This record gives sequence, structure tokens and C-alpha cells, in this order.
Amino acid sequence: MSLQSPLKVVFDTDPGVDDALALAFLHAHPGLDLLAVTTVFGNADIETTTRNARYLCQRFGISAPIAQGAAKPLHRARNPSPVAIHGGNGLGDYPVPDLRLPPLQPRDAADEIIARIRAAPGAVTIIAVGPLTNLALACTRDPEIAILAREVILMGGAFGVGKHAGNVTPHAEANIFNDPEAAAIVLAAPWPISIVGLDVTLDCLLTNEAAEALTERAGWLGRFIFDVTRHYVEAYRADGVDGCCLHDVAAVAYAIDRGLFRIRHGAVGVDTIGPQTGRTRWLPDEPPPAPRNVCVGVDRDGLVDLFCESIVRQSALTEAET
Ligand code: BDR
Ligand code: CA
Repeated sequence: MSLQSPLKVVFDTDPGVDDALALAFLHAHPGLDLLAVTTVFGNADIETTTRNARYLCQRFGISAPIAQGAAKPLHRARNPSPVAIHGGNGLGDYPVPDLRLPPLQPRDAADEIIARIRAAPGAVTIIAVGPLTNLALACTRDPEIAILAREVILMGGAFGVGKHAGNVTPHAEANIFNDPEAAAIVLAAPWPISIVGLDVTLDCLLTNEAAEALTERAGWLGRFIFDVTRHYVEAYRADGVDGCCLHDVAAVAYAIDRGLFRIRHGAVGVDTIGPQTGRTRWLPDEPPPAPRNVCVGVDRDGLVDLFCESIVRQSALTEAET
């Protein structure tokens, strides 16, 4: 048994089907201590992603505070929501009941991030799985937090290792494309950053058989995961992907066990103008402002196993409680 205390985490998210799975995983794993959930536009508008985050926290039994964040990118209009992938309600059109949802924090997401980092200097990891607008706002309002944070782990970008350089344009991944200026600010700040991008996340597939097995092994939570991913799986099928792509889950897996990944180090940046806007790239001639770990390989079976076993264990715990 590990004697290490759990890693303190703020989860910055735009739920989002794979965000929902990542949140369930984060809550399920004893190695992570969820301090707060902060929301951002992305897979839907901010009202919808925030409503989804509140619903998911209630459904999963998460009591961490929830703070609403940015409604739009720093300097651009918001791109249309990816309805074809995440459905009209951001959760693959899974019915979200209109119940009384947990309250929101009075402060916004950027201030929540600042407060959490300042309350535990050197100890807080931000896992960011949406556009990076909240993080950019936080480190612009209070630049010192980039020194005080333990690490930023982000799902975003692609670095020419895998087959795909982008998923919204031939050159850009969605989270980076949705606010490239914010990504540029975050990547230039002096916090340690680990990047879990398309190079590895497109390999992280929960097969339909594995999702079905969860309905047998993980009670209501397994059934929820199966149901909430059907629309998303169909959308990816049109692109030749057979299964549920665990983009945001992979960022959480990295926080739990980075031994699952092969990592390359070096400075990275993002294009903010021109036809390749949103493209992430290596900057071979520049020293990184702080460590930059880019995932370039993954033990896919190990990662999917870690996810599934955490979900099964969590469902056994919650069913025992009810
Ligand atoms: C990323 O974009 C969003 O649609 C997903 O939730 C994930 O964070 C994948 O490119
Ligand atoms: Ca996301």
C-alpha cells in the first residue's frame, strides 16, 4: 500500500462525454484528491458545460466545489459547439434531468484556481481537459501561481508522433484550436507542464466489448458510462474509429501513473495566426521556461485496465453504501 498522500487536483473541464468519464475516474481513484471542478466553454456553451459538471458531480457523489469559468476565448468568437460528437447537450444527448443541482462557487474558475494553488503552495496539480482560457486568465491575474503550482497536466495538441496532427482541422486539436492565444500564454508560463495529446489519446480506445463488460461489472456506473458514450462512439465510427476515445481519461491516467507513457522533453509552442492556427509544435531552438513533458507513446492496455478497474472498484463501494 502506498503511504503517499493523494495528489491534490483541480479539474478544469468542458463536459463533454470523455470529460464525464475522466471525472468519474478521477473521483474513483484513491491516489487523487479532487479539490475543485472548474468549467469552461468547449464541447458546449458555458451554461451547458457548467450544468453538466454540476449534474455529473451530483450523480457521482462528488462534493468538491464547482466554479464556472470562461464563456468564450480570450480574443476570438467561440467556435460552434461540436454537436455531432458530444450531442446537443454536451453529454451525447444522454437525458440530463432538471433536478436541483449542487450550487456554484461565488468566484469564477480563474479565481478558484488561484485560490486553490495559493492555499497549498507546491502541492496542487491542474488537470485541464478543455480550452485553456481559465488557466490563461488565472496566470495573467496572478502570475506567481505558475511558480506555486505543482504541475499542469493538459489534454491537448499533437506533436507529429501519431497519425493525426489535428481533429478539428488537419493541423489543430480541439482544446488548443478553441483558444490558441490562451494556450500560448499557458505554454509560455513557468509552471511544469505535461501534455497528453492526440499522439497518445487516439490510441486510448475503450472497445465496445470493454464498455459492455462494464455494464456487467460496474453496476449503475458501468451502465451510465455505456449509455453516455453511445452517440460519441457513433460519431467516431464515421471516422473509422471503433470504440470510445478516452482523450480526457488519458490525462487523469497520467496524473495517477505516468509510467504508462513514453515521454519526450523540450520546449513547445502554438501557432496563433495563419492557416495552421492551433497547431502545437516543438521549439527546438528555445529552452523551455520549465519542464515540458510531452507524451509520445502509451501502454494502451494498461491505461484502459486502470480506468476499468477503478470504475469497477468505485461502483462496488458506492453500491455497498446505498
Ligand atoms: C478534446 O476535445 C474535446 O472535444 C474532448 O473533450 C477532449 O478534451 C479532444 O480533442
Ligand atoms: Ca474535454
